[in-house]
Amino acid sequence: MTGRRAVVTGASSGIGEAFARGLARRGFHLVLVARRADRLQKLAGEVGGADRALAIPLDLAAPGGPSALEAELARRGLAVDLLVNDAGVGLTGPFHDQPLDRMLAMIDLNTRAVVELTRRFLPGMIERRSGEVVNVVSTSAFQPVPFFAVYAASKAFVLSFTEALAGELKGSGVVVQALCPGLTDSEFHHVAGTGRVLFTRTHSMRPEAVVERSLRALEKGRLRVIPGWRDRLVLRVQSVAPRAVVRRVAGELFRPRD
Ligand SMILES: NC(=O)c1ccc[n+]([C@@H]2O[C@H](COP(=O)([O-])OP(=O)(O)OC[C@H]3O[C@@H](n4cnc5c(N)ncnc54)[C@H](OP(=O)(O)O)[C@@H]3O)[C@@H](O)[C@H]2O)c1
Repeated sequence: MTGRRAVVTGASSGIGEAFARGLARRGFHLVLVARRADRLQKLAGEVGGADRALAIPLDLAAPGGPSALEAELARRGLAVDLLVNDAGVGLTGPFHDQPLDRMLAMIDLNTRAVVELTRRFLPGMIERRSGEVVNVVSTSAFQPVPFFAVYAASKAFVLSFTEALAGELKGSGVVVQALCPGLTDSEFHHVAGTGRVLFTRTHSMRPEAVVERSLRALEKGRLRVIPGWRDRLVLRVQSVAPRAVVRRVAGELFRPRD
C-alpha cells in the first residue's frame, strides 16, 4: 500500500480519524476531509505533515461539496487510489419531531455525498484497473429501526448501493467494501442524541479495532465486513427471525427513555 493515496472523509474524529492513522501507518498519502479545519490540520501534522497529508475542510452535505473536493485534487494533479466514505451523522427520536433541515442534511451526507464521491473518483480507478472504495455503513442497515428511521434507511441505501457496485466491478481491478460497524466509541452518539436510548448501553468497539478489521478485509477483497463478532451473531440470528419481531426489538433499543 506504500505511496498510494487515500481520501478519507470524516477524518476529524472517530472511525475516520482511525482510518487516517491506520492508513498512514501502512504508507498511504492522505487527503483528509471534514468540516473542522483545525482538527484536520492537527491530524495532518501528526500523520506526516505537508508531504504526506493534505487537509481539505469541506461541508460534504452542501451542494458543491463533493465537486469542490474533486476540483481541488484535479488542480493539484492528485489521483485517488482509495476512497473511504466515512463522513456520516445520525439523528434519533420520533420521526415527526425531528428537525426537517437536519434530517435532509443527514440524507445528503450519508447517501448523496457517498454516491457523488464514488461516481467522481471511480472512473479514474477503473481506467487504472486499480482502486478501492470503502463505504462506512452500519449494522442499522440490516433492519428498519424505529426512532432512528431515516438514519437506518440511509445506511440501507449505502449497503445496497455498495453491494450492487461490487457486482458491476467484478474483474475491473477495483474493490469495494461495505463496512458495517455496530456501536462504536466516537462523537457520533453525542451528535445523534442517542444519550437516552438503551442501544448505547450495549457493548461498543473502539474505532481503531473497526478500522483494523476493515483494512485487513480489504487486503482480502471482502465485500461485506461486520467487524464485531457480537454483531455478526445477532445479525445471523435475526436473519431467520420474523421482520416484525426484529423491528420491535430494534425500536425498543432506540426508544428515547427518561
Ligand atoms: N459510532 C457508531 O456507533 C457508528 C456505528 C455504525 C456506523 N457508524 C458510521 O461511521 C461513520 C463515522 O462515524 P463516527 O462514529 O466516527 O462518528 P463521528 O466521530 O461523529 O465522526 C463523524 C465524522 O463525519 C464528519 N462530518 C459530519 N458532517 C459532515 C459534513 N457535513 N461534511 C463533512 N464531514 C462531516 C465529522 O467531521 P466534522 O464535524 O468536522 O465535519 C466527523 O469527522 C458514519 O458514517 C457513521 O454513520 C458509526
